[in-house]
Amino acid sequence: MNTIEVRLQAIRFEAEGIQSFEFRAPDEQELPAFAAGAHVDIHLSDGIVRSYSLCNPSHERHRYVVAVNKDLRSRGGSRQMHERLRVGSKVLLEAPRNNFALDEKAEHTILIAGGIGITPLISMIERLEALGRSWELFYCARNRRTAAFRAALDRLAGARPDRVHFNFDQEPGGAVLDLQAVVACAPPKAHLYCCGPVPMLASFEEATSGLPREQVHVEYFSAKEAPAVVGGFTLQLARSGKTIQVEPGKTMLDALLAAGIKVPYSCKEGVCGACETMVLEGTPDHRDQVLTPGEQAVNDRVMVCCSGSKSETLVLDL
Ligand code: FES
Repeated sequence: MNTIEVRLQAIRFEAEGIQSFEFRAPDEQELPAFAAGAHVDIHLSDGIVRSYSLCNPSHERHRYVVAVNKDLRSRGGSRQMHERLRVGSKVLLEAPRNNFALDEKAEHTILIAGGIGITPLISMIERLEALGRSWELFYCARNRRTAAFRAALDRLAGARPDRVHFNFDQEPGGAVLDLQAVVACAPPKAHLYCCGPVPMLASFEEATSGLPREQVHVEYFSAKEAPAVVGGFTLQLARSGKTIQVEPGKTMLDALLAAGIKVPYSCKEGVCGACETMVLEGTPDHRDQVLTPGEQAVNDRVMVCCSGSKSETLVLDL
């Protein structure tokens, strides 16, 4: 695992319940580069690792900025970020990865955010502006108090404030954004991106089901499907020569870790990509949101934290 030690340089209030956290290398060295849409996995206390999208401009090399919503149903990650981290704290994180890459050549880009799902899109807008590309944002939040980055968005919208459409469904007269209508009005070659809660992403996927897959981009923060824990299959590890049985009730990751095999992982929900492992033989039962349906069909990679196996044996490049 390629971890980097960083220091928390600043915490900023962004909206009700949302703070941003700016990390820099302690020696002010450059940090690994990233592209818009990327995320970092932050190692917190108690063995918790959480993925957060980078929201600063992707040309910056001196800092990483993430924004975190204090989730009342938090499994510990957002609560730690909000309650335990202090300016000056040293934190380990992993080099950025990108499962939500921006197509920089699209004729028009439509970005749709739900709540804290705005974070990767902020970095994308900055990049599209720098490239002089055409873009439009639909940003859904409960009300204006909970919408982060409003001043930055006004600035990025520049002379065309009609590029940014806020949708506050819990304000008087508000309603849930009509995603079918947004998609129906999109120019034929537009690329559409959506990041937000699972019900919103499900609606987005339904609304865009008739579009070419390469024009549709989705970023999940949490699992859409339950992990495959039926078990009853065997893992053959090609490099170490080991054979491991995956018992019912366990994931492949559980079985690998129990056997002392070091596998990188973070979210354990099939959304971050940290546990991606090459498949040399066999057919995985894919349950992740990292690979596209086309990539899953190739069956040469699997997220071992959540996926199972359709074949009796999977041969992994481990
Ligand atoms: S650990 Fe995040 S996808 Fe498997």
